[in-house]
Amino acid sequence: MAAALPICLLDGVFVPAQDARVSPFDRGFLFGDGVYEVIPCFNAKPFRLAAHLDRLQAGLDALQIANPHSRAQWTKLVHELIAVNGVGNIGLYLEITRGAGSGRDFLPQADLKPTVFGFCWPLAPARNADLERGISGATLDDIRWLRCDIKSVALLAPVLLRMQARDRGADEAILIHDGRLAEGSSSAVFIVEAGRIVSPPASHERLPSITRLVVIEAAAALQLPLDAREVDRAELDGADEIWIASSTRDVMPVVRLDKHAVGDGKPGPLWRRVYAQVQAIKRRETR
Ligand code: PDD
Repeated sequence: MAAALPICLLDGVFVPAQDARVSPFDRGFLFGDGVYEVIPCFNAKPFRLAAHLDRLQAGLDALQIANPHSRAQWTKLVHELIAVNGVGNIGLYLEITRGAGSGRDFLPQADLKPTVFGFCWPLAPARNADLERGISGATLDDIRWLRCDIKSVALLAPVLLRMQARDRGADEAILIHDGRLAEGSSSAVFIVEAGRIVSPPASHERLPSITRLVVIEAAAALQLPLDAREVDRAELDGADEIWIASSTRDVMPVVRLDKHAVGDGKPGPLWRRVYAQVQAIKRRETR
């Protein structure tokens, strides 16, 4: 990931990144008590902003944190954060924690003021050579909690899983939960089996990925068959194609899984069509 761009958002104020300070009593720091969003922006326009703000609201509701901003205020802040940093293609991070208390109580005080933090970084589009090379995945047991549908800032398990994947020479951890495909450590996962795209459905075991919905739209536009259903371990191992999808990594072909090649070890034909269609959707919406 590229370094942060110079200007951050902290509690409604734009500040230089090196001057941004949060209290060590912030419950985000002490408990991971907060939620976040990552919004891809192209051509200085946030892509699918409404869906990201909806998911942020759902996370705040789950944590019983009052949203500190209206929809209109969020929209304004997001556009201002892009503008003050002056770069068109960026990843934009927003975090809201329950705020800083006067000590460390598991049960939060009632009068806390949520902390809002935002920053961004340049998001370079994937180079053709990288797309053609594809990425590798390592299957690992899903050691995360039972509310993976919440985009919580408590990300210790995905951090450990990504480190384990790296130690196996892989780019992403593909998580297995009770013998079934859950998702990537920070991505949605698709497989292709006998010409059909398969995408595990939304559940408390996975984040409701916004890129996943874009892929589903792309497949529909191309009239490609897509099933939203669970995928077991054997199907994953025998898949003709595997893709990961996320706001920052787009839709990437996984060409190796553990020690074996996926399909013929090259990006597959359905990935090519869906990837091109996803780029067309992004261009259309962020012209
Ligand atoms: N992560 N599943 C998990 C566990 C994720 O962390 C992510 C994204 C996704 C894909 O969701 P979306 O398509 O809405 O980006 C699925 C972000 C990019 C991150 O934490 O950096």
